[in-house]
Amino acid sequence: MSDNRVPALPDIRKISLEDILRDGKRIMWSVVQYKELEMIYSCALREIKTKFEVLNSEFDLKYKRNPISSIQTRLKGMESVIRKLMKYRLPFSISSIENGINDFAGVRVICSYIDDIYRIADAFLSQDDVTLIEKKDYISHPKENGYRSLHLIVSLPVFFSSEKKEVRAEVQIRTVAMDFWASLEHQMKYKRDGDGTESIVEELKACADVIASTDERMLRIRESLDAKEDAPSDDEELLFRLKKLGGSHG
Ligand code: GTP
Ligand code: MG
Repeated sequence: MSDNRVPALPDIRKISLEDILRDGKRIMWSVVQYKELEMIYSCALREIKTKFEVLNSEFDLKYKRNPISSIQTRLKGMESVIRKLMKYRLPFSISSIENGINDFAGVRVICSYIDDIYRIADAFLSQDDVTLIEKKDYISHPKENGYRSLHLIVSLPVFFSSEKKEVRAEVQIRTVAMDFWASLEHQMKYKRDGDGTESIVEELKACADVIASTDERMLRIRESLDAKEDAPSDDEELLFRLKKLGGSHG
Protein backbone atom coordinates (compact mmCIF):
# COMPACT_ATOMS: atom_id res chain seq x y z
CA MET A 1 0.00 0.00 0.00
CA SER A 2 1.55 3.36 -0.99
CA ASP A 3 1.22 6.48 1.15
CA ASN A 4 1.34 9.55 -1.09
CA ARG A 5 2.02 11.90 1.90
CA VAL A 6 5.55 10.45 2.15
CA PRO A 7 7.90 12.22 -0.30
CA ALA A 8 9.16 9.91 -3.06
CA LEU A 9 12.64 8.56 -2.39
CA PRO A 10 15.31 9.01 -5.08
CA ASP A 11 16.21 5.91 -7.06
CA ILE A 12 18.84 4.28 -4.84
CA ARG A 13 20.65 2.75 -7.86
CA LYS A 14 21.66 6.25 -9.03
CA ILE A 15 23.26 7.29 -5.72
CA SER A 16 26.82 6.37 -4.85
CA LEU A 17 27.63 4.38 -1.73
CA GLU A 18 29.63 7.34 -0.40
CA ASP A 19 26.57 9.61 -0.67
CA ILE A 20 24.45 7.08 1.19
CA LEU A 21 27.02 6.76 3.99
CA ARG A 22 27.45 10.53 4.25
CA ASP A 23 23.68 11.14 4.44
CA GLY A 24 23.30 8.30 6.94
CA LYS A 25 25.98 9.82 9.16
CA ARG A 26 24.39 13.27 8.93
CA ILE A 27 21.06 11.82 10.05
CA MET A 28 22.73 9.92 12.90
CA TRP A 29 24.50 13.09 14.06
CA SER A 30 21.11 14.88 14.17
CA VAL A 31 19.75 12.02 16.29
CA VAL A 32 22.76 12.31 18.63
CA GLN A 33 22.26 16.09 18.94
CA TYR A 34 18.59 15.59 19.79
CA LYS A 35 19.44 12.92 22.39
CA GLU A 36 22.06 15.25 23.91
CA LEU A 37 19.49 18.00 24.12
CA GLU A 38 17.12 15.60 25.91
CA MET A 39 19.93 14.70 28.32
CA ILE A 40 20.63 18.37 29.15
CA TYR A 41 16.93 19.17 29.69
CA SER A 42 16.38 16.06 31.81
CA CYS A 43 19.24 17.27 34.05
CA ALA A 44 17.44 20.63 34.35
CA LEU A 45 14.25 18.75 35.31
CA ARG A 46 16.12 16.91 38.07
CA GLU A 47 17.51 20.22 39.38
CA ILE A 48 14.09 21.85 39.44
CA LYS A 49 12.49 18.83 41.09
CA THR A 50 15.17 18.87 43.79
CA LYS A 51 14.56 22.57 44.42
CA PHE A 52 10.87 21.90 45.09
CA GLU A 53 11.66 18.84 47.23
CA VAL A 54 14.01 20.96 49.35
CA LEU A 55 11.32 23.62 49.80
CA ASN A 56 8.82 20.91 50.76
CA SER A 57 11.15 19.53 53.44
CA GLU A 58 11.77 22.99 54.85
CA PHE A 59 8.07 23.92 54.89
CA ASP A 60 7.34 20.61 56.61
CA LEU A 61 9.48 21.76 59.55
CA LYS A 62 8.36 25.37 59.49
CA TYR A 63 4.60 24.93 59.02
CA LYS A 64 4.32 21.31 60.23
CA ARG A 65 2.73 20.10 57.01
CA ASN A 66 3.74 19.31 53.44
CA PRO A 67 2.63 22.01 51.02
CA ILE A 68 3.48 19.82 48.00
CA SER A 69 1.57 16.62 47.48
CA SER A 70 3.43 15.53 44.32
CA ILE A 71 5.86 16.66 41.62
CA GLN A 72 5.76 15.37 38.05
CA THR A 73 8.36 16.03 35.38
CA ARG A 74 8.30 15.32 31.67
CA LEU A 75 10.25 15.98 28.49
CA LYS A 76 8.14 16.89 25.49
CA GLY A 77 7.73 13.99 23.09
CA MET A 78 9.10 14.28 19.57
CA GLU A 79 5.64 14.34 17.95
CA SER A 80 4.59 17.21 20.22
CA VAL A 81 7.86 19.09 19.52
CA ILE A 82 7.32 18.82 15.74
CA ARG A 83 3.69 19.92 16.13
CA LYS A 84 4.78 23.05 18.02
CA LEU A 85 7.59 23.92 15.57
CA MET A 86 5.03 23.66 12.76
CA LYS A 87 2.51 25.79 14.71
CA TYR A 88 5.09 28.56 15.23
CA ARG A 89 6.49 28.07 11.69
CA LEU A 90 9.98 27.41 13.05
CA PRO A 91 12.62 25.35 11.25
CA PHE A 92 13.28 21.82 12.53
CA SER A 93 16.53 22.54 14.35
CA ILE A 94 18.07 22.21 17.78
CA SER A 95 18.26 25.99 18.23
CA SER A 96 14.54 26.33 17.36
CA ILE A 97 13.75 23.92 20.19
CA GLU A 98 16.09 25.73 22.62
CA ASN A 99 14.91 29.23 21.78
CA GLY A 100 11.38 28.75 20.47
CA ILE A 101 9.86 26.09 22.73
CA ASN A 102 9.50 27.04 26.40
CA ASP A 103 8.04 23.76 27.57
CA PHE A 104 10.47 21.20 26.15
CA ALA A 105 11.08 20.52 29.85
CA GLY A 106 7.98 20.66 32.04
CA VAL A 107 7.43 20.38 35.78
CA ARG A 108 4.05 20.11 37.47
CA VAL A 109 3.90 20.82 41.20
CA ILE A 110 0.70 19.76 42.92
CA CYS A 111 -0.05 21.62 46.15
CA SER A 112 -2.54 21.04 48.93
CA TYR A 113 -3.91 24.59 49.30
CA ILE A 114 -4.10 27.71 47.09
CA ASP A 115 -1.85 29.78 49.39
CA ASP A 116 0.84 27.09 49.15
CA ILE A 117 1.03 27.70 45.38
CA TYR A 118 2.09 31.33 45.80
CA ARG A 119 4.36 30.61 48.78
CA ILE A 120 6.18 27.85 46.90
CA ALA A 121 6.36 29.92 43.67
CA ASP A 122 7.80 32.96 45.51
CA ALA A 123 10.42 30.84 47.31
CA PHE A 124 11.42 29.14 44.03
CA LEU A 125 11.62 32.40 42.06
CA SER A 126 13.66 34.16 44.74
CA GLN A 127 16.54 31.70 44.26
CA ASP A 128 19.68 33.28 42.75
CA ASP A 129 19.99 30.91 39.80
CA VAL A 130 16.33 30.98 38.75
CA THR A 131 15.33 33.68 36.24
CA LEU A 132 11.67 34.33 35.57
CA ILE A 133 10.92 34.78 31.88
CA GLU A 134 7.13 34.78 31.97
CA LYS A 135 4.38 34.31 34.53
CA LYS A 136 0.75 33.48 33.73
CA ASP A 137 -1.60 33.48 36.67
CA TYR A 138 -4.61 31.46 35.53
CA ILE A 139 -5.77 31.32 39.18
CA SER A 140 -6.49 35.01 39.64
CA HIS A 141 -7.43 35.15 35.93
CA PRO A 142 -8.87 31.72 35.01
CA LYS A 143 -9.14 30.80 31.34
CA GLU A 144 -12.59 31.12 29.78
CA ASN A 145 -13.09 27.34 29.97
CA GLY A 146 -12.39 27.37 33.75
CA TYR A 147 -8.74 26.22 33.63
CA ARG A 148 -6.79 27.31 36.71
CA SER A 149 -3.06 26.99 37.36
CA LEU A 150 0.00 29.18 37.92
CA HIS A 151 2.44 28.95 34.99
CA LEU A 152 6.07 30.05 35.22
CA ILE A 153 8.53 30.02 32.34
CA VAL A 154 11.96 30.05 33.93
CA SER A 155 15.55 29.73 32.91
CA LEU A 156 18.27 28.18 35.08
CA PRO A 157 21.85 27.02 34.63
CA VAL A 158 22.89 23.37 34.41
CA PHE A 159 26.57 22.88 35.25
CA PHE A 160 28.64 20.35 33.31
CA SER A 161 32.35 19.62 33.69
CA SER A 162 33.49 22.35 31.32
CA GLU A 163 30.43 24.43 30.52
CA LYS A 164 27.34 26.02 31.96
CA LYS A 165 24.15 25.71 29.95
CA GLU A 166 21.18 28.03 30.55
CA VAL A 167 18.02 26.02 30.05
CA ARG A 168 14.35 27.02 29.91
CA ALA A 169 11.50 25.12 31.51
CA GLU A 170 7.79 25.49 32.17
CA VAL A 171 6.60 25.05 35.74
CA GLN A 172 2.88 24.58 36.37
CA ILE A 173 1.79 24.89 40.00
CA ARG A 174 -1.78 23.99 40.97
CA THR A 175 -3.86 22.41 43.72
CA VAL A 176 -4.91 18.75 43.74
CA ALA A 177 -8.43 19.90 42.83
CA MET A 178 -7.26 22.08 39.91
CA ASP A 179 -5.13 19.19 38.67
CA PHE A 180 -8.05 16.77 38.85
CA TRP A 181 -10.13 19.09 36.65
CA ALA A 182 -7.30 19.84 34.17
CA SER A 183 -6.42 16.15 33.74
CA LEU A 184 -9.99 15.11 32.96
CA GLU A 185 -10.64 18.15 30.76
CA HIS A 186 -7.46 17.37 28.81
CA GLN A 187 -8.59 13.76 28.24
CA MET A 188 -12.02 14.93 27.09
CA LYS A 189 -10.59 17.42 24.56
CA TYR A 190 -9.93 14.52 22.21
CA LYS A 191 -13.54 13.44 22.26
CA ARG A 192 -15.27 16.76 21.83
CA ASP A 193 -15.89 17.05 18.10
CA GLY A 194 -19.48 15.82 17.95
CA ASP A 195 -22.85 17.27 18.89
CA GLY A 196 -23.64 18.93 22.20
CA THR A 197 -20.15 20.45 22.48
CA GLU A 198 -21.45 23.77 23.85
CA SER A 199 -23.30 22.18 26.74
CA ILE A 200 -20.22 20.11 27.61
CA VAL A 201 -18.05 23.24 27.66
CA GLU A 202 -20.58 24.93 29.98
CA GLU A 203 -20.78 21.86 32.21
CA LEU A 204 -16.97 21.68 32.49
CA LYS A 205 -16.82 25.39 33.33
CA ALA A 206 -19.46 24.87 36.05
CA CYS A 207 -17.39 21.99 37.49
CA ALA A 208 -14.26 24.20 37.46
CA ASP A 209 -16.15 26.89 39.43
CA VAL A 210 -17.40 24.37 42.02
CA ILE A 211 -13.85 23.02 42.37
CA ALA A 212 -12.46 26.57 42.81
CA SER A 213 -14.98 27.38 45.52
CA THR A 214 -14.17 24.06 47.28
CA ASP A 215 -10.46 25.00 47.20
CA GLU A 216 -11.35 28.35 48.81
CA ARG A 217 -13.48 26.67 51.50
CA MET A 218 -10.78 24.12 52.34
CA LEU A 219 -8.29 26.97 52.72
CA ARG A 220 -10.67 28.84 55.10
CA ILE A 221 -11.09 25.66 57.19
CA ARG A 222 -7.31 25.22 57.45
CA GLU A 223 -6.83 28.90 58.31
CA SER A 224 -9.41 28.74 61.09
CA LEU A 225 -7.75 25.61 62.51
CA ASP A 226 -4.34 27.33 62.30
CA ALA A 227 -5.76 30.33 64.19
CA LYS A 228 -7.12 28.11 66.98
CA GLU A 229 -3.86 26.27 67.45
CA ASP A 230 -1.72 27.56 70.32
CA ALA A 231 1.93 28.29 69.64
CA PRO A 232 3.92 25.20 70.73
CA SER A 233 5.98 25.37 73.92
CA ASP A 234 9.77 25.14 73.58
CA ASP A 235 9.67 21.49 74.70
CA GLU A 236 6.96 20.60 72.17
CA GLU A 237 8.91 22.32 69.41
CA LEU A 238 12.11 20.48 70.39
CA LEU A 239 10.35 17.08 70.38
CA PHE A 240 8.63 17.86 67.07
CA ARG A 241 11.91 18.75 65.37
CA LEU A 242 13.69 15.71 66.81
CA LYS A 243 10.93 13.51 65.47
CA LYS A 244 11.00 15.13 62.03
CA LEU A 245 14.79 15.21 61.72
CA GLY A 246 15.43 11.94 63.52
CA GLY A 247 14.76 9.53 60.66
CA SER A 248 16.91 8.98 57.61
CA HIS A 249 16.90 11.85 55.12
CA GLY A 250 17.17 9.76 51.99
P1 GTP B 1 0.99 26.27 24.38
O1 GTP B 1 1.87 25.38 25.20
O2 GTP B 1 1.32 26.28 22.94
O3 GTP B 1 -0.47 25.99 24.66
O4 GTP B 1 1.39 27.72 24.84
P2 GTP B 1 0.55 28.85 25.52
O5 GTP B 1 1.26 30.11 25.34
O6 GTP B 1 -0.88 28.80 25.10
O7 GTP B 1 0.73 28.46 27.04
P3 GTP B 1 -0.27 28.29 28.24
O8 GTP B 1 0.50 28.79 29.41
O9 GTP B 1 -1.62 28.86 28.00
O10 GTP B 1 -0.44 26.70 28.33
C1 GTP B 1 0.64 25.85 28.50
C2 GTP B 1 0.20 24.49 29.02
O11 GTP B 1 -0.77 24.62 30.06
C3 GTP B 1 -0.47 23.58 28.03
O12 GTP B 1 0.47 22.90 27.26
C4 GTP B 1 -1.27 22.66 28.95
O13 GTP B 1 -0.42 21.71 29.59
C5 GTP B 1 -1.74 23.61 30.03
N1 GTP B 1 -3.05 24.20 29.69
C6 GTP B 1 -3.28 25.44 29.23
N2 GTP B 1 -4.57 25.64 29.00
C7 GTP B 1 -5.22 24.50 29.35
C8 GTP B 1 -6.58 24.08 29.34
O14 GTP B 1 -7.50 24.82 28.97
N3 GTP B 1 -6.84 22.81 29.77
C9 GTP B 1 -5.88 21.96 30.21
N4 GTP B 1 -6.23 20.75 30.61
N5 GTP B 1 -4.57 22.32 30.21
C10 GTP B 1 -4.24 23.57 29.79
MG1 MG C 1 -2.18 27.02 25.06
